[in-house]
Amino acid sequence: MTAQLIPTLSSNLNLNKLPQHVAVIMDGNGRWAKQRGLPRIEGHRRGANTLKEMLRYCKDLKIKTLTAYAFSTENWGRPTAEVDFLMTLFERLLQKELKEMEAERVCINFIGDLSPLPPSLQQEMHRSMERTKNNRDIYFNVAINYGSRHEMVKACRKIAEKVQQGKISATDIDENMIAQHLYTSSSPDPDLLIRTSGEMRLSNFLLWQLAYTEIYVTDTLWPDFNHEQFEQALESFQQRDRRFGKKVG
Ligand code: IPE
Ligand code: IPE
Ligand code: MG
Repeated sequence: MTAQLIPTLSSNLNLNKLPQHVAVIMDGNGRWAKQRGLPRIEGHRRGANTLKEMLRYCKDLKIKTLTAYAFSTENWGRPTAEVDFLMTLFERLLQKELKEMEAERVCINFIGDLSPLPPSLQQEMHRSMERTKNNRDIYFNVAINYGSRHEMVKACRKIAEKVQQGKISATDIDENMIAQHLYTSSSPDPDLLIRTSGEMRLSNFLLWQLAYTEIYVTDTLWPDFNHEQFEQALESFQQRDRRFGKKVG
């Protein structure tokens, strides 16, 4: 992780009104590389650094949970060379960063269907989850082979099995039970979602969990998303009036 990142002097951040859980759709790596005449994989490499810095910054601000979208169920449709590169990059990063995550008291958790991932990557993922499971400074959820619709189908199947086995009845199913069967069962819903590179869509990310999340979209491409820009997102969040459907006027 890089040097300490403290809110800039010009910052209007209210440290008592920060989101507890920030989710991020890290988009624009390919465009960042293309603008520089580099291969797309360079954008992914740089994007990994951005994530590392963002994790550090969240920790410094005592934001409790960071959830990052790293690979969607739809991203398998990309060229094989890019997919292979990303899988190798994830594995290398885990090998390289585990010690520091342990030292920094990061609790890493992967959300998504890990079973189709390369076995050596799965091994690193389980190892890092196991080694950091008691850390409490920051919860770091990384969505890999994650798709919200797939997550919901999986939850429905698990609940239906319980009904079939007579463990619960259909009328026991409520919002809480569904939330408990999602990958995110141990996290509160995100307060703030950031999407870089200007796209105004969710791309199958946390459809259930984002029901009342504040959304911030920036044109900045993910590899260029730095702590000043993160502060701008946080300041924008602090100006929002979160009504949850309840308040009027
Ligand atoms: C996000 O950047 C990273 C992943 C989806 C893995 P992209 O690779 O989608 O970059 P753009 O959107 O093509 O610029
Ligand atoms: C969303 O970005 C997925 C990740 C950031 C991992 P995409 O680049 O895959 O999304 P679309 O294709 O623009 O919707
Ligand atoms: Mg993209």
